[in-house]
Amino acid sequence: MNSLNHVAIIMDGNGRWGLKYKNSRNAGHKAGLNTVEKIIKETIKNKIKFLTLYAFSTENWKRPKKEVNYLFNLLENFLINRIEELHKKNIKLKIIGVKNFSSKLNQLLSLSEKKTSKNKKLQINLALNYGSKFEIINALKNLSKHKKKINEINLSQYLQTKNIPDPDLLIRTGNTKRLSNFLLWQLAYSEIFFEKKLWPEFTEKDYNKIISDFKKVKRNFGNI
Ligand code: FPP
Repeated sequence: MNSLNHVAIIMDGNGRWGLKYKNSRNAGHKAGLNTVEKIIKETIKNKIKFLTLYAFSTENWKRPKKEVNYLFNLLENFLINRIEELHKKNIKLKIIGVKNFSSKLNQLLSLSEKKTSKNKKLQINLALNYGSKFEIINALKNLSKHKKKINEINLSQYLQTKNIPDPDLLIRTGNTKRLSNFLLWQLAYSEIFFEKKLWPEFTEKDYNKIISDFKKVKRNFGNI
């Protein structure tokens, strides 16, 4: 049985769910946040130590301003209302991506990270304004600036996921099979599960089924 230390998730399908059931993409994001909460709880139950959630990519800025603003308001309210609870549950929050939001949100994110920085039960990495190609190029630039040799270990140390083990498992909901510029380096040997359901309809049961299937996969890492 494989051990499972780190799950990464591309939470796709909010927009389609919202349009289908509520005639509004934003309603889908709101419903998606409920799934986030359920999956966090289930991740703790499964004793998984790292959960990385792709909440906003560098390409998502292309969306209508109304949707972008809605997403950041949702995040802001989530942090204001829930950070205390996350902290009490011994959860550490880390942002991966470039924090160039409103000064209010930047501050809130930094405070939330600082407050929870010593927590040990689960580390949630929230990918916000995250793009893997940018991350890799930036790491290479920093390696060269600090006159470091380019090799796997050094490069990993200059990624935003420094000190975070690579994901064992990537789940993408929403019936789409692509990586969308997410953790391209870190996912090199992850097991990938594509899920047909849209993110707001993804349940604890679906999550546990994937976890149980993952545990049975023979992971070779290039060996036989
Ligand atoms: C992708 O679905 C989802 C997003 C770009 C946003 C993810 C946000 C949440 C799950 C809620 C907010 C989370 C936090 C942590 C506050 P899509 O909109 O691309 O769906 P579509 O493919 O159906 O259009």
